[in-house]
Amino acid sequence: MLQITIINGPNLNLLGKREPGVYGNETFDDCLAGLKAHYPQVNFTYFQSNIEGEIVDAIQAAGFNQDGIIINPAAYTHTSIAIGDAIAAIKTPVIEVHISNVHAREEFRKISHVSAKVVGSIIGLGLKGYALATDWFISNAGSK
Ligand code: DQA
Repeated sequence: MLQITIINGPNLNLLGKREPGVYGNETFDDCLAGLKAHYPQVNFTYFQSNIEGEIVDAIQAAGFNQDGIIINPAAYTHTSIAIGDAIAAIKTPVIEVHISNVHAREEFRKISHVSAKVVGSIIGLGLKGYALATDWFISNAGSK
């Protein structure tokens, strides 16, 4: 069974009620239930935190024993050297997902401390980005 850990950063626990015009109406619980139903061959582990160091801990914990990490570091994408360093430090390949098109928003969202450390980034395709990242891991299991 493919082991994939999804790590979501700050405020993503509010999906469904947070700025629905930007992030949509679906909760992450619904998204995760859909992923589990659609990909029975994948064992998903889900972690969300509003705290930077907890996200670093989660990356380290998943970084040597999972087949893939899908991470949306949310606002920490634009500020956190520690999260970028943690991704560079691990063995597990990582895909960065952003629900909204960060390049079409404020200038500060165009900077990512994560993008250079990941296999690839999926940006602006809504919650579908998590399924697309899963598809990549299914067809490229074993690559970093
Ligand atoms: C986000 C984009 C970030 O700029 C923002 O701070 C978020 C969510 C996204 O998924 O579109 O919280 O990562």
